Amino acid sequence: MMNIRVRDRVDTTPIYQAGLPIELVARERGLDPDTIIKLASNENPLGPSPKAIEAIIREAPHVHLYPDGGAWELAGKLAAMHGLTREHFIIGNGSNEIIEFLGQALLEPGTNVVMGEFPFAVYPLVTYHFGADARKIAMPGLKHDTEAMLAAIDANTRMVCISSPNNPTPLHNSADELRAMIRAIPENVVLCLDAAYPEYLDEQPDLVPEILANRPLIVLRTFSKVYGLAGLRVGYGMGSPALISLLQRTRQPFNVGVLAQKAALAALDDRAFVERSIRVNRDGLLQVQEGLKRLGLDAVFGQTNFYLVKVPDPAKTCDALLGRGVIVRSVAPSGLKGMMRVSVGTKEENQRFLDALPNCL
Ligand SMILES: Cc1ncc(COP(=O)(O)O)c(C=O)c1O
Repeated sequence: MMNIRVRDRVDTTPIYQAGLPIELVARERGLDPDTIIKLASNENPLGPSPKAIEAIIREAPHVHLYPDGGAWELAGKLAAMHGLTREHFIIGNGSNEIIEFLGQALLEPGTNVVMGEFPFAVYPLVTYHFGADARKIAMPGLKHDTEAMLAAIDANTRMVCISSPNNPTPLHNSADELRAMIRAIPENVVLCLDAAYPEYLDEQPDLVPEILANRPLIVLRTFSKVYGLAGLRVGYGMGSPALISLLQRTRQPFNVGVLAQKAALAALDDRAFVERSIRVNRDGLLQVQEGLKRLGLDAVFGQTNFYLVKVPDPAKTCDALLGRGVIVRSVAPSGLKGMMRVSVGTKEENQRFLDALPNCL
């Protein structure tokens, strides 16, 4: 093992620390898994879309066959939904995989990626992995400064990554800010606009006209949040056919499983579930906002399905909450000091977090 010759940076790339799975916490803390709640990965607290569950069961007898690698049916449905064509879409094993496709296609040593100071963790990871440099731009008020990001582009910049709403900070940029950024991006730099949570916003930005204008833009979307399918791993990118065609060349033949494709198709039709998920999130945000105020704790809220809570010692508080079967997330690795990130749960889950918190500070 020690003598294996590896590509530069492979052995020094940090291993991504995800929100802890319930089974692991149960094992390590000697807790009953049924009593543990996970508010650590911004998943849908209502579970999967029921229509998606039906589709998975319907499809189960066919899983001996490889999936349609091009996800023809799903790309077709998405195209109709957004008023685009199949050629505007690439389907990924989660939207995270598409960030990796972008790394494969665009990055190499000597190049750089512009991103916010507190970016979604996968951007610096992929950047580093492909030998490129991350140019992190200050985020005043914990929000992306789109003008400063544009100003940071230099001759070696291959990509600008922005998520709106962002994660780990829960704030979003306005549609006007995003459109101005898309229109100003140089022709030879790709703007990766990661939209994992737009359904939760009061107003979703419509970026389809910018895609039709053939800007060097890819918009990432996911089935992991409001559609409740994080465990299946399915997301998509939409962009100009020329850019999508480049990314298709980096994709493995069968990157998205058949159950994921069928469940995603069914979830798109489950409007009632999406609307219920959005409602539960809005009510949950109000509930925790009031609860934290009563506890005298400062917090950062946006409109998405998670928030930041300011606590004196986040590592200690996260650990104490774990011991009580409440999984939340320290954001110290992202550079955010004195805060922890908590996902909005069901009413009962939010209350359990609020009840446990005072004893964990
Ligand atoms: C900004 C952002 N992008 C992408 C993802 C991951 O999406 P997926 O599950 O589709 O890989 C997340 C999930 O937490 C996220 O917060």
